[in-house]
Order: sequence, then structure tokens, then C-alpha cells
Amino acid sequence: MKKFVAMSLVAVVFTIITVKATEAREYKIGFIGPMSGGAAQLGQQMKRGAKLYMKLHKDQLGKHTIKMIVRDSKRPGGPIAKAAAQELITREKVELITGLIFSPNAMSVAPLVNKSKTPVVIMNAGTTFIPNMSPHMVRVSFTMWQAGVIIGEHAASNLNCKTAVAGYTNYPPGKDSINAFRHGFEGKGGKVVDEIPMGGPGKVPDFTPFFQRAKSKKPNCLYVFVPAGNHAAAVAKTYQALAMRKAGIRLIGPGDITQDTQLQGMGSAAVGLVTAHHYHMFLKSAENQAFVKAWKAEYGANNPPDFVGVGGYDGMAAVYAAIRAANGSKLTSAIAMKALKGWKFESPRGPIMIDPETRDIIQNIYISIVRKKGGMLVQETQKTFKAVKDKCKELKLGKCGKKLY
Ligand code: PHB
Repeated sequence: MKKFVAMSLVAVVFTIITVKATEAREYKIGFIGPMSGGAAQLGQQMKRGAKLYMKLHKDQLGKHTIKMIVRDSKRPGGPIAKAAAQELITREKVELITGLIFSPNAMSVAPLVNKSKTPVVIMNAGTTFIPNMSPHMVRVSFTMWQAGVIIGEHAASNLNCKTAVAGYTNYPPGKDSINAFRHGFEGKGGKVVDEIPMGGPGKVPDFTPFFQRAKSKKPNCLYVFVPAGNHAAAVAKTYQALAMRKAGIRLIGPGDITQDTQLQGMGSAAVGLVTAHHYHMFLKSAENQAFVKAWKAEYGANNPPDFVGVGGYDGMAAVYAAIRAANGSKLTSAIAMKALKGWKFESPRGPIMIDPETRDIIQNIYISIVRKKGGMLVQETQKTFKAVKDKCKELKLGKCGKKLY
């Protein structure tokens, strides 16, 4: 009899818990990105991507809903994003943090979520070791090493580049990017003859003195990493103004320098530019064509998506997967990480997966060239590298091989 009562009690408690867990629930999530200042266009693209996913997939959460609380990180440096994350965690009591364009911002959030155990889905920041800073972080965007190594190898093997100068915006993803490029380029027999720091991410510098220094070294290739946005627009223009193509120097880089939203403004300066990246809006897959169509229907034919927008879109797909796994109960890091380690998604950029070991993205990388077609600049895919992992972590180089928490 006692045993029967005890078992009934267990059944009742279990029923209460399951009923409670499937009650409709609003999930509060924090979204941190630059919404004002020089990088506002990037924050807007990322938010547009996230919102588009939400609009197109309303039914995926059943009766549960999301409240997205947006906070402006303003500058790339870290402290404002950190204060925003602190406020989102302690006052707003968000159950997940997402967004994060600039690496120093994502890095500044890591120690906070290590204390609060708040899950984080990184939609952009690319410095390779960031997920090593917290067991509560996954990244759906890219790592600087994915594009950097591939364009380095491609330049040496297929673009006839024996020597290169590498220019970079002087902050963590820039240093990471040229290390990756050097690894790929010199691994295939090329030689990096100069490395030029070109100011910080907060303000677009005059690139002229940096490119003059590069030109004076007479390299076959100039590899450039700058963050997308206004920096990218200025790079192609300076390259043209200094007649570097005529001097026999080929401009190459990760796709940050041919960001789709900046491309048309670059004019003929961009024609012939070769990049490696995980996305451009001209990818021919059915998923991408549907995505571009939906994006333009939502935001207007003159406001195309780009890789930052796709980061927002795919990031929100990951957030949805985590919330579905919580199914009405609190969204803990344990639930989110379990749902997202090994998570797969048919993204507009191609199939993606979160590496269960590193919590980082595995994705295709495309070598593309800019061409002029019908008066428009387009990116044409020349080569596809499938399911690319992060080499820095695979080889356990420097911080990539360490647990940083
Ligand atoms: C970064 O800060 O990690 C970052 C920002 C913009 C980019 C790429 C990387 O285009």
C-alpha cells in the first residue's frame, strides 16, 4: 500500500512537472550589437537577419514566444557591451545572449556568462579562440582561420602569388586573420614580406600610407583584413587610387572586404578581387535564393543581405533550436549546449553544423571573384571547400589549443 501511495505521488509530481514544462512561456533573450555609431549598419544587418528568421518561422516554437531585448554596444572596444550584458543578466534576467559583432565585445562577455551560466550564441565575432573562453558559448558565424588559411593556400597555388604583404586592422581578429593567411600561404611556398597594422576598428583610417608602404615592397599579392562596413568600402577605393593593380599587385582577402552591402559602392575598383568566405548573396543554392527573395521582400530590393545578415538569421535558428529543447522550462546553458553541440542547419550559406567538441561552426568556404555583369557587381563562386573546420583549433595552435576559462 505504502509503495502504491509513493508511486502515485511520483506520478502526480511528474505530471505536474511535465504540464508545467509545456505551458506557454515567453523567453527573454538579450541581443547586443552596434546600433549607433560607425558600425550601426552591421548591427542593423544582424538584427534584420534575426528578425527575418523569427518572422518566417513563427510556428517553430509552438505556443512559446521570444522577447528580444536589444542593447547597443556602440563601439568595438568591449566595456559598453560588457555593461550591457551585465544589465541583461542581472536586471532583465535574460535566459540567453546573442548578437556580438566585434570580437572584443564577445570576449568581454565571456567572464560574465561564466559566472551566471547564461548561454551565448555568437552571430558574428570571428577571433578564433573566443569559444575557448567560455563553455557556455557557441558560434554560428565564422572563424578568421577558416577563410584566412584557404585564401592563403589559393593565392600561392592558383593565383601565382609568390610574395605577399598582409595589411590588417590592428585588433584580435586582424592579427588572427594574417596569422591564418601566413599559415596557408607559406605552407604552400609563398612568402609574406611585410605585415602592416592599419589602425583600429573604431575609426576608418586613411589607408593611403599603409598601401603605399605595401606597394613599395612590390609583392604579387596584397592580403587585407578589415572589419566589414565602412572600412571595407575604403579599401578597394585606396587600392584603385594608388593604381596598385596596374603595378601588378593583386588584392585578396577574406570576404569581409567584398561585403555584399558595400559592393556596388566600390565600383570598378572591386572588379577582379578574389576572396574566400562562407557567404555571398549570389550563391546559387535554392536555400539562398529563397532567403535573398524573402530578405528583399522584407527590407526592399535595394537593401540586400550579406554575411552579417546571414549570421543573424542562422544565429536565430540556433536560438530557436535551444528554446525548442527547453520546451517551456528554463533555458539553462546545459539545455542549450546539449541542443546546439552537433546542431545542423540548411543555411543560405550551405549546410552548417556546430562542432560538438569546440562549439564552433563547421561550414563551406567559397573562393569567389568579383565581376561586372549587366552594370552590376556580382560575386562568382570559383571553388567550394566543403565542411571546413577551424584549423587553428585542429592544430591546437597557441590560444586555440587552450581552455581559457
Ligand atoms: C570581429 O571583430 O570579430 C569582426 C568584425 C567584423 C568583421 C569580421 C570580424 O567583418
